[in-house]
Amino acid sequence: MQRISFFGSGVVGLASAVVFSSKGVETIITDKDLEKLDAIKSGKSPFREPKLEELLRGSLQSGKLRVNNDQKSTVLESEITLVTVGTPTNHDGSIDLSQLKSTVESVGIALSQKKEYHLMVIKSTVTPGTTSNLVKSMLEDKSKKTVGKDIGLAVNPEFLREGSAIEDTMNPHLILIGSADAISADRLEDFYKESYQRHDLPIMKVNIETAELIKCANNAFLATKISYVNTLANICSRIEGVDVEAVARAIGMDPRIGPLFLKAGPGYGGSCLPKDVKALSHFAESIGYDALFFKMVERVNELQPHVILSIAEKLIGRFTNKTIAILGLAFKKGTDDVRESISVVIVEYLIKQGSTVKVHDPMAMENVRPIFKDRIHYCEKAIDCLKDSDCCLILTDWDEYRNLRSEDFIRNMKEPNVIDAWRVLRINGSGKIRYVAFGIGSYLK
Ligand code: UDX
Repeated sequence: MQRISFFGSGVVGLASAVVFSSKGVETIITDKDLEKLDAIKSGKSPFREPKLEELLRGSLQSGKLRVNNDQKSTVLESEITLVTVGTPTNHDGSIDLSQLKSTVESVGIALSQKKEYHLMVIKSTVTPGTTSNLVKSMLEDKSKKTVGKDIGLAVNPEFLREGSAIEDTMNPHLILIGSADAISADRLEDFYKESYQRHDLPIMKVNIETAELIKCANNAFLATKISYVNTLANICSRIEGVDVEAVARAIGMDPRIGPLFLKAGPGYGGSCLPKDVKALSHFAESIGYDALFFKMVERVNELQPHVILSIAEKLIGRFTNKTIAILGLAFKKGTDDVRESISVVIVEYLIKQGSTVKVHDPMAMENVRPIFKDRIHYCEKAIDCLKDSDCCLILTDWDEYRNLRSEDFIRNMKEPNVIDAWRVLRINGSGKIRYVAFGIGSYLK
């Protein structure tokens, strides 16, 4: 079995490293962030992800996973290097390639001292052309070797979701391999076949640019479905008695549409969807095409928090000097990640409007502290968050919020105005509570 190494210990790198090492693959992981590496070495995950720590500890104990802060030996002691560093967004919407560049440089320099064949695999999300142009030339320049002859190069995008990273890596719906030469593609395919030991492993081999585009296109389509259903929700909320959930359920039963990613809510967030839509749009522009479609997907998503805010304003009037309870900070349930979270956008807006903002989240509180510091109130319990507030916005679909009852809002809030952006509550608007479930017609005229 080939020995593998990962550069980058984010969700993709660490989840993949623990899954493959738990399958018996000799795996090394490295990162520029030494604090992160120290945590991983001691069996602690730098982020919350179900089943990850359990597997991490097992792999460290068995010795199949090694944590190494020396980049050169990480490369030299493996046969395949998978690059899983972050590729965040620049201000203009393009992808920031600085981490990728410095990684390719380090791997290239290390490879200049290696006699045997080595395969470098880009798992980080990049737009078409990045690998064939930038990565290939940097790698050849630093290693003094030729791609396709002495060393291999492939693109292998990742489709795992946060919150189910281990599950998704164990059961991938697709292993996408992009390569310009057969040896690189075959080596990577062999590695996956050997590690998974499954005859029905869904592998697709394409050229490098196609693989790069597929990754961005995949996430842009998911974002499209969400902006589409949110648009429908906003229409439904203006038609008496019409509920977007019924509309989405029905159209989702058409096999040509499918039921997933049709849940209306506050808009998509996270480290991938917003970034990849922007990147695709920016990339299209760079090759002479104005992809208006993606710009609209993005615009709908930008406006969605303001739809929630305007409903709140209709309920309570101006936000100045009001107390707002925010339930949910993570960009989705099951994670402590607040990157591009709609809650963060809403909290920032409310602070600017002069509101007192109280927040609660079962996992993500520590991750918003560096953003908001002492500008907001952090509540340990959801009920504490409701106390003396004028309006409550439920912005993440955490299961624990399902258990909140009408009385919890009535007894604790100054006025029980509740906006349920994910429709998690099982209460209705009758009685004293003014309850707006997102995307249901007739609540606010
Ligand atoms: C996404 C892709 O799903 C994954 O394939 C890729 O590898 C990384 O990006 P992730 O960012 O973990 O994964 O989150 P995902 O589950 O896709 O949700 C993204 C956002 O869409 C969240 O904010 C979520 O709340 C929102 N969403 C999702 C909706 O608003 N409605 C839906 O129906 C589904």
